[in-house]
Amino acid sequence: MSELNKIALKILANGKGILAADESNGTMTKRLEAVNVQSTPENRLAFRETLLSSESMNDCIGGVILFDETINQITSTGKSIPDVISSTGAVPGIKVDTGAKNLANSPKEKITEGLDGLRERLKKYYELGARFTKWRGVYSISEKYPSKLAIHSNAHALARYSALVQECEMVPIVEPEVLMDGDHSAEDCLNKTSEVIKKCFEELILHEIDLSGIILKPNMILAGNNSKNKISNEEVAEKTLECLKNSVPSEVPGIAFLSGGQSEIEATENLNLINKKNYTNFIMTYSYGRALQQSALKFWSTDTKNIIGTQNVFNHRARMCTLAAQGKWTSELENK
Ligand code: 13P
Repeated sequence: MSELNKIALKILANGKGILAADESNGTMTKRLEAVNVQSTPENRLAFRETLLSSESMNDCIGGVILFDETINQITSTGKSIPDVISSTGAVPGIKVDTGAKNLANSPKEKITEGLDGLRERLKKYYELGARFTKWRGVYSISEKYPSKLAIHSNAHALARYSALVQECEMVPIVEPEVLMDGDHSAEDCLNKTSEVIKKCFEELILHEIDLSGIILKPNMILAGNNSKNKISNEEVAEKTLECLKNSVPSEVPGIAFLSGGQSEIEATENLNLINKKNYTNFIMTYSYGRALQQSALKFWSTDTKNIIGTQNVFNHRARMCTLAAQGKWTSELENK
């Protein structure tokens, strides 16, 4: 087993999942202002420290993705954020892309940037304690999109990123997110997501990536949020499995889904069904941002001093997600 494969399994095994707490300052400001909390470095740290010192970190969370500001912050106990994470047994990770910009010659689409100077930044993050990283490519669905150009250029960037990350002895999370915005059908989502993921692996293989030392972070297969033809949770699970079985090489140890705008319960229920039906060899777990933090953030915003209360809300969500990663979740458990 390679060292990278060991790290990937430490993050994903036994029903553990990933807490995606890597919102950029811009995104975090939107999230905080939506619940009437001022977005300051202190408040961003206070919320994140509250989550990272929760009990469920020990048994549910295998990895935490951080943003540059957070990985450099010192907590109220004097420990660094990566040290707080490591002390729970989880692995610290870091978002290393610098965001999605308009794609030249197809400006309604996006290309993710951040390759310049990446090798040097990775070394710094490794010294700070990071052992895995994230890079998100983003694609939207419409009649014309995603274009071949967007599919190819984002796959190429994800592969160059992955090569640099593995060179630095960290596990790259490869995140090609096909957005749920739009009125497309689930079948369109299945076809486009399959094309996007296949292209990513074509490029990863060309760049000689050790596939046993990556984690894939895809979207689930859903109808667009404005589609009139929604599909059942059972069908979401079936189509998602079909997509991944046909597009992902078997060497990949695990898949950690993004929640992508699904509600907390929807993201949990769909993951649970995926695991109940899982006929692949892949570990199927979560790497949720909103679907792990939404309720906790709402609760915290009503009384930012109520650390225990906020942690109880987060612990419940993390435990539900971990049960779903084992196919053991039921809706009755939500109310216990
Ligand atoms: P969501 O689960 O909120 O989609 O966030 C996951 C993530 O990391 C997106 O890049």
